[in-house]
Amino acid sequence: MAKPMRKVVFPVAGLGTRFLPATKTVAKEMLPVLDRPLIQYAVDEAVDAGADTLIFVTNRYKHAIADYFDKAYELESKLSQSGKKELLALVQGTLPKHVRCIFVTQPEALGLGHAVLCAKQVVGDEPFGVILADDLIWNAGKSCLRQMSELSQRENGAGVIAVEEVPRDQTDKYGIVDATKINERAAKINLVVEKPKPDVAPSNLAIVGRYVLPARIFELLEKTEPGAGGEIQLTDAIEALLGERSVLAYRFEGTRFDCGNKLGLVQATLHMAMQDPKLAAATKDFIRTSRIAG
Ligand code: G1P
Repeated sequence: MAKPMRKVVFPVAGLGTRFLPATKTVAKEMLPVLDRPLIQYAVDEAVDAGADTLIFVTNRYKHAIADYFDKAYELESKLSQSGKKELLALVQGTLPKHVRCIFVTQPEALGLGHAVLCAKQVVGDEPFGVILADDLIWNAGKSCLRQMSELSQRENGAGVIAVEEVPRDQTDKYGIVDATKINERAAKINLVVEKPKPDVAPSNLAIVGRYVLPARIFELLEKTEPGAGGEIQLTDAIEALLGERSVLAYRFEGTRFDCGNKLGLVQATLHMAMQDPKLAAATKDFIRTSRIAG
């Protein structure tokens, strides 16, 4: 039986230029969807998938994420003194007690593959997950990463990568896979290419920000040369892994919101408002009466 996935890596060193000027001082992973930052959704997903160790690959300027998951002594004591129990529970509930956070610095922004490689010593010789927090994936049942880690376990520790069809003209924003169908959700990957132009893309099946990978990927990343955009690409190391073992593309159950861009963040916000019993009716009414349409 393959080892279960217990560690999840969150590459959070990006600059978030699409959200400037907000991201001058706010890390993009701290942008809220309703009342919770994107990183909270990502962490909840990792915990649902069974993770007890969360590894944040960050840069020296980004302290907000560490602060967010740390204890907020002053705030907690004020809320406690004033008897605001519900608020106190919210503040204390960002992380379950059994979960620990480890922060690793990525000294230079050399690409997603390089960011993941920075977690090598902390992950050790275990399968691990990767979540890109700006891809928010919502599902009423099991979280996306949990679906993937369960599949990996059933398939003897195979790598699993979340995929979704995207419009042809957007293949150059994603890693694109060519895969042979196993069943409705899973397919065996034959080839992965990072950000191919639409006319040379092997398909329109795109990698979204969820991976379950074996520790072997670190050795492959160490040998990976800069690729698309001059960056060390995780996709290229996965392509090398394909020569050694099977990696599955997985069409997850759930809805992905690309919160790395403004429209995605708006859509995620509306979607989450519709899930909230206190906001759903008013939000629906607001959209229906199109007071925003002008
Ligand atoms: C990264 C990966 C890419 C993947 C995408 C998903 O690209 O390199 O393969 O499709 O995330 O969000 P980025 O969006 O960081 O350029």
